Amino acid sequence: MIEPSVRSQLVSYPIRDIVQAAKKIEKKGTDMLYFNIGDPAPYGFRPPQHILDAVKEAIDQNYSGYSPSGGDPELKQAIAEHENVDTEDVFVTVGLSEGIDFIYQALMDPGRNFVLPSPSYPLYITKQRLAYGTLEFYDTDQSLEPDIESLRKSITPYTKGIVVINPNNPAGTVYSRKTIQDIVDIAGEYNLPIIADDVYDQMVFDGELTPVKKLSKDVPVISGNSLSKNYLYPGARVGYLSLHGETEHLRDVFQRLCNQRLSANWEMQRAYIAALKGPHDHIKKFNAELKERRDLVVKKCNEIEGLSVAPPKGAFYAFIEVEGPWKTDKEFVYELLETGVVVVPGSGFSPTLKKKYFRMVILPKLEQIEEGFGRIEKFLRAH
Ligand SMILES: Cc1ncc(COP(=O)(O)O)c(C=O)c1O
Repeated sequence: MIEPSVRSQLVSYPIRDIVQAAKKIEKKGTDMLYFNIGDPAPYGFRPPQHILDAVKEAIDQNYSGYSPSGGDPELKQAIAEHENVDTEDVFVTVGLSEGIDFIYQALMDPGRNFVLPSPSYPLYITKQRLAYGTLEFYDTDQSLEPDIESLRKSITPYTKGIVVINPNNPAGTVYSRKTIQDIVDIAGEYNLPIIADDVYDQMVFDGELTPVKKLSKDVPVISGNSLSKNYLYPGARVGYLSLHGETEHLRDVFQRLCNQRLSANWEMQRAYIAALKGPHDHIKKFNAELKERRDLVVKKCNEIEGLSVAPPKGAFYAFIEVEGPWKTDKEFVYELLETGVVVVPGSGFSPTLKKKYFRMVILPKLEQIEEGFGRIEKFLRAH
Protein backbone atom coordinates (compact mmCIF):
# COMPACT_ATOMS: atom_id res chain seq x y z
CA MET A 1 0.00 0.00 0.00
CA ILE A 2 1.24 3.50 -0.83
CA GLU A 3 0.92 5.54 2.32
CA PRO A 4 -0.20 9.16 1.89
CA SER A 5 1.86 11.79 3.67
CA VAL A 6 0.78 13.31 6.98
CA ARG A 7 0.71 16.68 5.24
CA SER A 8 -1.74 15.47 2.62
CA GLN A 9 -4.36 15.02 5.36
CA LEU A 10 -4.27 18.78 5.84
CA VAL A 11 -5.54 19.55 2.34
CA SER A 12 -9.20 20.29 1.80
CA TYR A 13 -11.17 22.54 -0.52
CA PRO A 14 -14.81 22.77 0.64
CA ILE A 15 -15.96 24.55 -2.53
CA ARG A 16 -15.15 21.49 -4.64
CA ASP A 17 -15.90 18.88 -1.94
CA ILE A 18 -19.62 19.59 -2.21
CA VAL A 19 -19.58 18.72 -5.92
CA GLN A 20 -19.02 15.01 -5.30
CA ALA A 21 -22.12 14.85 -3.12
CA ALA A 22 -24.09 16.88 -5.69
CA LYS A 23 -23.11 14.55 -8.55
CA LYS A 24 -24.51 11.56 -6.65
CA ILE A 25 -27.87 13.31 -6.31
CA GLU A 26 -27.80 14.41 -9.95
CA LYS A 27 -27.35 10.75 -10.96
CA LYS A 28 -30.66 9.97 -9.31
CA GLY A 29 -32.29 12.33 -11.82
CA THR A 30 -32.65 15.52 -9.73
CA ASP A 31 -32.50 18.74 -11.72
CA MET A 32 -29.53 20.50 -10.10
CA LEU A 33 -28.99 24.23 -9.66
CA TYR A 34 -25.31 24.93 -9.14
CA PHE A 35 -24.68 28.04 -7.04
CA ASN A 36 -21.27 26.91 -5.85
CA ILE A 37 -18.85 27.65 -8.70
CA GLY A 38 -16.94 30.94 -8.71
CA ASP A 39 -16.40 30.68 -12.45
CA PRO A 40 -18.32 32.83 -14.94
CA ALA A 41 -17.94 30.34 -17.85
CA PRO A 42 -20.50 27.66 -16.80
CA TYR A 43 -23.06 30.48 -16.45
CA GLY A 44 -22.56 31.63 -20.05
CA PHE A 45 -20.07 34.47 -19.58
CA ARG A 46 -17.11 34.60 -21.99
CA PRO A 47 -13.78 36.45 -21.87
CA PRO A 48 -13.72 39.55 -24.13
CA GLN A 49 -13.05 38.64 -27.79
CA HIS A 50 -9.81 40.65 -28.10
CA ILE A 51 -8.29 38.55 -25.30
CA LEU A 52 -9.28 35.30 -27.05
CA ASP A 53 -7.87 36.69 -30.32
CA ALA A 54 -4.57 37.36 -28.55
CA VAL A 55 -4.40 33.69 -27.52
CA LYS A 56 -4.92 32.59 -31.14
CA GLU A 57 -2.26 35.03 -32.30
CA ALA A 58 0.17 33.79 -29.65
CA ILE A 59 -0.35 30.21 -30.82
CA ASP A 60 0.31 31.24 -34.44
CA GLN A 61 3.40 33.17 -33.37
CA ASN A 62 4.71 30.08 -31.64
CA TYR A 63 4.85 31.05 -27.98
CA SER A 64 5.01 27.37 -27.17
CA GLY A 65 8.23 27.36 -25.16
CA TYR A 66 8.93 28.15 -21.53
CA SER A 67 8.75 31.89 -20.99
CA PRO A 68 11.31 33.64 -18.75
CA SER A 69 10.44 32.23 -15.29
CA GLY A 70 9.30 35.50 -13.75
CA GLY A 71 7.08 36.21 -16.76
CA ASP A 72 6.98 37.49 -20.33
CA PRO A 73 8.95 40.77 -20.25
CA GLU A 74 6.21 42.66 -22.09
CA LEU A 75 3.60 41.40 -19.62
CA LYS A 76 5.79 42.31 -16.66
CA GLN A 77 6.12 45.79 -18.10
CA ALA A 78 2.33 46.12 -18.57
CA ILE A 79 1.70 44.90 -15.01
CA ALA A 80 4.40 47.19 -13.61
CA GLU A 81 2.69 50.17 -15.25
CA HIS A 82 -0.72 49.03 -14.02
CA GLU A 83 0.54 48.53 -10.46
CA ASN A 84 2.91 51.49 -10.46
CA VAL A 85 5.96 49.42 -9.43
CA ASP A 86 9.27 48.42 -11.10
CA THR A 87 9.25 45.41 -13.42
CA GLU A 88 11.59 43.68 -10.90
CA ASP A 89 8.70 43.77 -8.44
CA VAL A 90 6.39 41.75 -10.70
CA PHE A 91 6.20 37.94 -10.76
CA VAL A 92 3.85 36.16 -13.14
CA THR A 93 2.27 33.05 -11.65
CA VAL A 94 -0.03 30.19 -12.64
CA GLY A 95 -3.19 31.96 -11.52
CA LEU A 96 -3.20 33.82 -8.25
CA SER A 97 -3.47 30.37 -6.64
CA GLU A 98 0.21 29.82 -7.36
CA GLY A 99 0.91 33.36 -6.22
CA ILE A 100 -0.67 32.52 -2.85
CA ASP A 101 1.41 29.35 -2.68
CA PHE A 102 4.55 31.42 -3.35
CA ILE A 103 3.65 33.90 -0.62
CA TYR A 104 3.44 31.06 1.88
CA GLN A 105 6.66 29.49 0.68
CA ALA A 106 8.38 32.86 0.81
CA LEU A 107 7.21 34.04 4.22
CA MET A 108 5.68 31.32 6.38
CA ASP A 109 7.48 29.09 8.88
CA PRO A 110 6.00 26.50 11.26
CA GLY A 111 4.27 28.10 14.22
CA ARG A 112 3.87 31.46 12.48
CA ASN A 113 0.71 32.89 10.94
CA PHE A 114 -0.93 35.43 8.72
CA VAL A 115 -4.07 36.76 10.32
CA LEU A 116 -6.92 35.83 8.00
CA PRO A 117 -10.34 37.41 7.60
CA SER A 118 -13.26 35.36 8.88
CA PRO A 119 -14.71 34.35 6.48
CA SER A 120 -11.76 33.84 4.14
CA TYR A 121 -11.05 32.31 0.75
CA PRO A 122 -10.23 28.70 1.80
CA LEU A 123 -6.93 28.41 -0.05
CA TYR A 124 -5.32 30.66 2.57
CA ILE A 125 -6.53 28.35 5.33
CA THR A 126 -5.20 25.27 3.55
CA LYS A 127 -1.84 26.86 2.73
CA GLN A 128 -1.45 28.03 6.31
CA ARG A 129 -2.11 24.50 7.55
CA LEU A 130 0.27 23.00 4.98
CA ALA A 131 3.00 25.37 6.13
CA TYR A 132 2.40 24.11 9.70
CA GLY A 133 1.43 27.64 10.63
CA THR A 134 -1.16 28.42 13.31
CA LEU A 135 -4.62 29.61 12.29
CA GLU A 136 -5.56 33.11 13.45
CA PHE A 137 -8.68 34.88 12.22
CA TYR A 138 -10.09 38.36 12.61
CA ASP A 139 -13.87 38.66 12.74
CA THR A 140 -16.22 40.62 10.58
CA ASP A 141 -19.16 42.60 11.90
CA GLN A 142 -22.86 42.39 10.98
CA SER A 143 -22.18 44.01 7.59
CA LEU A 144 -19.30 41.55 6.99
CA GLU A 145 -16.71 44.35 7.18
CA PRO A 146 -13.60 43.55 9.25
CA ASP A 147 -13.95 44.23 12.96
CA ILE A 148 -10.87 46.32 13.65
CA GLU A 149 -10.67 45.49 17.37
CA SER A 150 -10.80 41.81 16.52
CA LEU A 151 -8.01 42.34 13.98
CA ARG A 152 -5.86 43.92 16.65
CA LYS A 153 -6.57 41.04 19.05
CA SER A 154 -5.79 38.38 16.45
CA ILE A 155 -2.19 39.59 16.03
CA THR A 156 0.33 37.55 18.05
CA PRO A 157 4.13 37.77 18.36
CA TYR A 158 4.21 35.06 15.67
CA THR A 159 2.17 36.97 13.11
CA LYS A 160 3.94 37.66 9.82
CA GLY A 161 1.29 39.56 7.93
CA ILE A 162 -2.34 40.53 7.47
CA VAL A 163 -4.40 39.06 4.63
CA VAL A 164 -6.99 41.39 3.11
CA ILE A 165 -9.37 40.10 0.42
CA ASN A 166 -11.21 43.06 -1.06
CA PRO A 167 -13.75 42.71 -2.66
CA ASN A 168 -14.18 39.70 -0.49
CA ASN A 169 -14.78 36.09 -1.38
CA PRO A 170 -17.04 34.69 0.12
CA ALA A 171 -18.82 37.77 1.51
CA GLY A 172 -18.99 40.08 -1.53
CA THR A 173 -18.07 42.96 0.81
CA VAL A 174 -16.25 46.00 -0.52
CA TYR A 175 -14.45 47.48 2.46
CA SER A 176 -14.93 51.15 3.25
CA ARG A 177 -12.01 53.56 2.95
CA LYS A 178 -12.01 53.89 6.74
CA THR A 179 -11.68 50.12 7.18
CA ILE A 180 -8.73 50.02 4.78
CA GLN A 181 -7.12 52.97 6.54
CA ASP A 182 -7.60 51.28 9.93
CA ILE A 183 -6.05 48.04 8.65
CA VAL A 184 -3.09 49.92 7.19
CA ASP A 185 -2.63 51.81 10.48
CA ILE A 186 -2.60 48.57 12.47
CA ALA A 187 -0.16 46.96 10.00
CA GLY A 188 2.11 50.01 10.44
CA GLU A 189 1.81 49.89 14.21
CA TYR A 190 2.79 46.19 14.37
CA ASN A 191 5.30 46.42 11.53
CA LEU A 192 3.50 43.85 9.42
CA PRO A 193 3.12 43.59 5.65
CA ILE A 194 -0.32 43.30 4.06
CA ILE A 195 -1.13 40.52 1.62
CA ALA A 196 -3.73 42.22 -0.59
CA ASP A 197 -5.81 39.80 -2.64
CA ASP A 198 -7.09 42.10 -5.38
CA VAL A 199 -8.42 39.36 -7.63
CA TYR A 200 -11.94 40.94 -7.80
CA ASP A 201 -10.80 44.56 -7.84
CA GLN A 202 -12.76 45.51 -10.97
CA MET A 203 -15.87 43.57 -10.00
CA VAL A 204 -17.42 46.37 -7.94
CA PHE A 205 -21.07 47.15 -8.65
CA ASP A 206 -21.95 49.26 -5.63
CA GLY A 207 -19.78 52.02 -4.16
CA GLU A 208 -16.08 52.49 -4.68
CA LEU A 209 -13.09 50.30 -3.96
CA THR A 210 -10.14 51.65 -1.99
CA PRO A 211 -7.14 49.47 -2.89
CA VAL A 212 -4.81 48.77 0.04
CA LYS A 213 -1.83 49.96 -2.00
CA LYS A 214 -3.46 53.37 -2.41
CA LEU A 215 -3.23 54.06 1.33
CA SER A 216 -0.35 51.81 2.39
CA LYS A 217 2.50 54.39 2.14
CA ASP A 218 5.22 52.89 4.43
CA VAL A 219 3.49 49.55 4.91
CA PRO A 220 4.84 46.87 2.55
CA VAL A 221 2.17 45.24 0.42
CA ILE A 222 2.19 42.08 -1.67
CA SER A 223 -0.69 42.43 -4.05
CA GLY A 224 -2.10 39.57 -6.12
CA ASN A 225 -4.31 39.54 -9.19
CA SER A 226 -5.12 37.39 -12.21
CA LEU A 227 -6.95 37.00 -15.51
CA SER A 228 -9.49 34.75 -13.81
CA LYS A 229 -12.14 37.10 -12.47
CA ASN A 230 -11.64 40.63 -13.81
CA TYR A 231 -11.27 39.32 -17.37
CA LEU A 232 -13.63 36.33 -16.98
CA TYR A 233 -10.87 33.90 -17.94
CA PRO A 234 -10.13 31.52 -15.05
CA GLY A 235 -9.12 28.69 -17.38
CA ALA A 236 -6.21 30.78 -18.64
CA ARG A 237 -4.41 30.15 -15.35
CA VAL A 238 -2.30 33.29 -15.34
CA GLY A 239 -1.93 35.68 -12.44
CA TYR A 240 0.74 37.75 -10.78
CA LEU A 241 2.19 39.14 -7.58
CA SER A 242 3.46 42.70 -7.30
CA LEU A 243 5.61 43.97 -4.44
CA HIS A 244 4.97 47.46 -3.07
CA GLY A 245 7.00 49.42 -0.55
CA GLU A 246 10.12 48.21 1.21
CA THR A 247 10.32 44.74 -0.31
CA GLU A 248 13.56 44.69 -2.39
CA HIS A 249 14.93 41.85 -0.25
CA LEU A 250 12.01 39.66 -1.38
CA ARG A 251 12.70 40.03 -5.10
CA ASP A 252 15.29 37.25 -5.08
CA VAL A 253 13.04 34.94 -3.02
CA PHE A 254 10.12 35.24 -5.43
CA GLN A 255 12.41 34.95 -8.45
CA ARG A 256 13.80 31.65 -7.11
CA LEU A 257 10.27 30.37 -6.51
CA CYS A 258 9.45 31.22 -10.11
CA ASN A 259 12.65 29.59 -11.38
CA GLN A 260 12.05 26.24 -9.68
CA ARG A 261 8.77 25.71 -11.56
CA LEU A 262 10.14 27.05 -14.88
CA SER A 263 7.28 29.16 -16.25
CA ALA A 264 3.59 29.96 -16.53
CA ASN A 265 1.80 29.25 -19.85
CA TRP A 266 3.29 31.68 -22.35
CA GLU A 267 0.34 31.91 -24.76
CA MET A 268 -1.91 32.90 -21.90
CA GLN A 269 0.58 35.49 -20.69
CA ARG A 270 0.30 37.09 -24.14
CA ALA A 271 -3.46 37.16 -23.58
CA TYR A 272 -2.94 39.03 -20.30
CA ILE A 273 -1.02 41.75 -22.18
CA ALA A 274 -4.03 42.19 -24.47
CA ALA A 275 -6.30 42.23 -21.42
CA LEU A 276 -4.38 44.98 -19.63
CA LYS A 277 -3.82 47.12 -22.72
CA GLY A 278 -7.13 46.57 -24.53
CA PRO A 279 -10.64 47.93 -24.01
CA HIS A 280 -12.34 47.28 -20.68
CA ASP A 281 -15.93 47.63 -21.88
CA HIS A 282 -16.89 44.24 -20.47
CA ILE A 283 -16.43 45.45 -16.88
CA LYS A 284 -19.34 47.89 -16.91
CA LYS A 285 -21.62 45.39 -18.61
CA PHE A 286 -20.67 42.53 -16.30
CA ASN A 287 -21.04 44.64 -13.16
CA ALA A 288 -24.49 45.80 -14.30
CA GLU A 289 -25.54 42.15 -14.66
CA LEU A 290 -24.12 41.34 -11.23
CA LYS A 291 -25.98 44.24 -9.65
CA GLU A 292 -29.26 43.03 -11.10
CA ARG A 293 -28.64 39.55 -9.67
CA ARG A 294 -27.52 40.99 -6.33
CA ASP A 295 -30.75 43.02 -6.07
CA LEU A 296 -32.81 39.89 -6.63
CA VAL A 297 -30.80 37.87 -4.07
CA VAL A 298 -31.20 40.62 -1.45
CA LYS A 299 -34.95 40.91 -2.17
CA LYS A 300 -35.38 37.15 -1.75
CA CYS A 301 -33.36 37.06 1.47
CA ASN A 302 -35.50 39.87 2.87
CA GLU A 303 -38.72 38.08 1.91
CA ILE A 304 -37.90 34.56 3.07
CA GLU A 305 -38.13 33.86 6.77
CA GLY A 306 -34.93 32.33 8.12
CA LEU A 307 -32.60 34.05 5.63
CA SER A 308 -30.72 37.33 5.89
CA VAL A 309 -27.81 38.87 4.02
CA ALA A 310 -25.49 41.85 4.14
CA PRO A 311 -25.91 43.10 0.55
CA PRO A 312 -22.80 42.23 -1.48
CA LYS A 313 -21.17 45.14 -3.31
CA GLY A 314 -18.53 43.34 -5.33
CA ALA A 315 -17.18 39.98 -6.50
CA PHE A 316 -19.91 37.47 -7.32
CA TYR A 317 -20.98 35.96 -4.05
CA ALA A 318 -23.58 36.43 -1.33
CA PHE A 319 -22.86 35.11 2.17
CA ILE A 320 -26.31 34.32 3.48
CA GLU A 321 -27.15 33.72 7.12
CA VAL A 322 -29.61 30.93 7.77
CA GLU A 323 -31.59 30.22 10.90
CA GLY A 324 -33.28 26.92 11.61
CA PRO A 325 -33.07 23.59 13.40
CA TRP A 326 -29.79 22.47 11.80
CA LYS A 327 -26.85 22.10 14.17
CA THR A 328 -24.33 23.32 11.63
CA ASP A 329 -24.41 25.07 8.29
CA LYS A 330 -22.85 21.98 6.75
CA GLU A 331 -25.84 19.94 7.89
CA PHE A 332 -28.18 22.53 6.33
CA VAL A 333 -26.29 22.58 3.03
CA TYR A 334 -26.10 18.80 2.66
CA GLU A 335 -29.83 18.41 3.43
CA LEU A 336 -30.66 21.23 1.02
CA LEU A 337 -28.70 19.36 -1.64
CA GLU A 338 -31.61 16.88 -1.91
CA THR A 339 -33.67 19.74 -3.47
CA GLY A 340 -31.00 20.13 -6.16
CA VAL A 341 -29.71 23.45 -4.80
CA VAL A 342 -25.91 23.42 -4.48
CA VAL A 343 -24.33 26.03 -2.20
CA VAL A 344 -21.24 25.95 0.03
CA PRO A 345 -21.37 25.87 3.87
CA GLY A 346 -20.10 29.08 5.46
CA SER A 347 -17.97 27.08 7.88
CA GLY A 348 -15.81 26.05 4.89
CA PHE A 349 -14.59 29.66 4.85
CA SER A 350 -13.85 29.95 8.56
CA PRO A 351 -13.94 27.73 11.64
CA THR A 352 -14.69 30.72 13.91
CA LEU A 353 -18.08 31.95 12.61
CA LYS A 354 -20.66 32.27 15.36
CA LYS A 355 -23.69 31.89 13.08
CA LYS A 356 -24.74 29.56 10.24
CA TYR A 357 -24.10 30.79 6.70
CA PHE A 358 -23.95 29.51 3.17
CA ARG A 359 -22.19 31.05 0.19
CA MET A 360 -24.18 31.47 -2.96
CA VAL A 361 -22.65 32.38 -6.31
CA ILE A 362 -24.79 35.09 -7.93
CA LEU A 363 -23.71 34.39 -11.52
CA PRO A 364 -26.67 32.23 -12.66
CA LYS A 365 -29.50 33.76 -14.72
CA LEU A 366 -32.27 35.61 -12.85
CA GLU A 367 -34.76 32.79 -13.55
CA GLN A 368 -32.39 30.27 -11.99
CA ILE A 369 -31.89 32.46 -8.93
CA GLU A 370 -35.71 32.74 -8.62
CA GLU A 371 -36.03 28.97 -8.95
CA GLY A 372 -33.22 28.38 -6.43
CA PHE A 373 -34.82 30.60 -3.80
CA GLY A 374 -38.21 28.99 -4.51
CA ARG A 375 -36.72 25.63 -3.56
CA ILE A 376 -34.87 27.05 -0.54
CA GLU A 377 -38.08 28.69 0.73
CA LYS A 378 -40.05 25.45 0.38
CA PHE A 379 -37.26 23.55 2.13
CA LEU A 380 -37.16 26.07 5.02
CA ARG A 381 -40.97 25.97 5.39
CA ALA A 382 -40.86 22.18 5.61
CA HIS A 383 -38.60 22.48 8.66
C1 LIG B 1 -10.15 35.55 -3.28
C2 LIG B 1 -9.51 34.66 -4.29
N1 LIG B 1 -8.18 34.67 -4.43
C3 LIG B 1 -7.55 33.89 -5.32
C4 LIG B 1 -8.27 33.05 -6.15
C5 LIG B 1 -7.51 32.18 -7.11
O1 LIG B 1 -7.67 32.67 -8.40
P1 LIG B 1 -6.88 32.12 -9.65
O2 LIG B 1 -7.92 31.56 -10.58
O3 LIG B 1 -6.21 33.32 -10.24
O4 LIG B 1 -5.92 31.09 -9.22
C6 LIG B 1 -9.66 33.00 -6.05
C7 LIG B 1 -10.45 32.07 -6.87
O5 LIG B 1 -11.63 31.85 -6.70
C8 LIG B 1 -10.30 33.84 -5.11
O6 LIG B 1 -11.63 33.84 -4.97
